[in-house]
Amino acid sequence: MNFTPDEWRDPFGQGGSPWDGQFYIEMAQTLERACFDYIMIEDKLMVSETYGGSRERGLRGGVMVPKHDPAPLAVAMGMATKHLGVVATMSTLAYPPFLLARLCSTVDSLTKGRFGWNVVTSAEDLSAQNFGLDKLPARELRYEMAEEYMEVMGKLFESWEEGAVVLDREAGMYADHTKVHPINHEGKFFKVRGPLNTVRSPQGRPVYVQAGASPRGRDFAAKHADSIVSVASGVGEMKAFRADIRGRAAALGRDPDQIKVLFCVTPTLGETTADARETHERRLNAPYFIDDMLASVSAITDIDFAQFPIDQNLPARLITNGEQGSLDKFQQWGSGKTLRQLVVDGAGGLCSSVELVGTPAEVACRMGEVMDEVGGDGFLITTPVLRVGRRYLTEVADGLVPELQRRGLTRTEYRHQLLRDNLQEF
Ligand SMILES: Cc1cc2nc3c(=O)[nH]c(=O)nc-3n(C[C@H](O)[C@H](O)[C@H](O)COP(=O)(O)O)c2cc1C
Repeated sequence: MNFTPDEWRDPFGQGGSPWDGQFYIEMAQTLERACFDYIMIEDKLMVSETYGGSRERGLRGGVMVPKHDPAPLAVAMGMATKHLGVVATMSTLAYPPFLLARLCSTVDSLTKGRFGWNVVTSAEDLSAQNFGLDKLPARELRYEMAEEYMEVMGKLFESWEEGAVVLDREAGMYADHTKVHPINHEGKFFKVRGPLNTVRSPQGRPVYVQAGASPRGRDFAAKHADSIVSVASGVGEMKAFRADIRGRAAALGRDPDQIKVLFCVTPTLGETTADARETHERRLNAPYFIDDMLASVSAITDIDFAQFPIDQNLPARLITNGEQGSLDKFQQWGSGKTLRQLVVDGAGGLCSSVELVGTPAEVACRMGEVMDEVGGDGFLITTPVLRVGRRYLTEVADGLVPELQRRGLTRTEYRHQLLRDNLQEF
């Protein structure tokens, strides 16, 4: 999900003004009731002007904008729950490492060890222009900077040794200064003295989530991530992606089992198969659907899809300095599909790694089969343009999840305090 208008046009929507956070806090509580590992808040740092070359269509449809800051929402969600992990997206382009390490440490303490950071480098020129740059740095350079950024973050999180807080009233000692160290980092991009001025947080560092899709991005994810989120086209691609990540992790000396690869899916649930199918078709044919999807793809790829005729093939394979993985998934180059077909596929394609349409029992069964074939590790349940309504939450939490639990595929209670430990359970 993201901190944007909820399913505001839907007859069962919340009205489109979730800015007091209450709806999303309720969402977190609902997912906790269903024993999810974590909720993930996506983020971007711009008002897109890519689609149709203007801010108009994004703002008119409420697509990707307005978007409020995920960090305070993560705190609110975390303090209204006890077990659910809360993951917020924050960009290495936007925060100086010291500030971000301090923020992550503080939120991990506030949530008693349930915080995660979705590590992104940002992918749009418009975001870069909010931070003193004219253009987004090229992908290679972004990852090179991010690599050093992670090194600084790691050093900062280690700048307080375990046991540095003594809290000995009789000796009059709060913290042992011999266990708190400057890091004196001087690299190519960053110069940071340290130490952090926050205590070591319950997890030491937040859980790292990543979504690298390019070869460079996959190496980065395989090196750093505790959990990787991905969108694939079908079971074969899911299996190949996971195997690729595990191979890269092993080559880097990591135990691949420590990385939980989650695949995006957007299930459509109904009381009968026909009912679910009808809902699915209705969503695809909603008057605003194609526009919303194209606005969303344009925003994240920095390519204006309004320039292409809707009932023709794309003229060439498109390349972006932004989210190439998402773009490749969308354009299905070589498939011979028209743009309209790509969008319609996108409802079960852009955000869904496999099609899941049916009753809760049918979908749960299919999810189990898919995971058996892929080998693990799980799914990230989402919606095509990330809008959520209460009804969808109920369908997932009270329909789908109980069916998964009945099959022994998901937990029925949390066993651990820390997000990292809960993640390792499956
Ligand atoms: C499920 C998913 C969620 C993502 N969330 C964000 C996000 O919140 N913010 C962002 O800037 N990029 C996000 N991305 C983009 C990735 O961080 C990354 O830029 C993209 O997958 C392209 O990878 P690459 O740079 O290695 O090609 C997301 C990607 C996926 C697949």
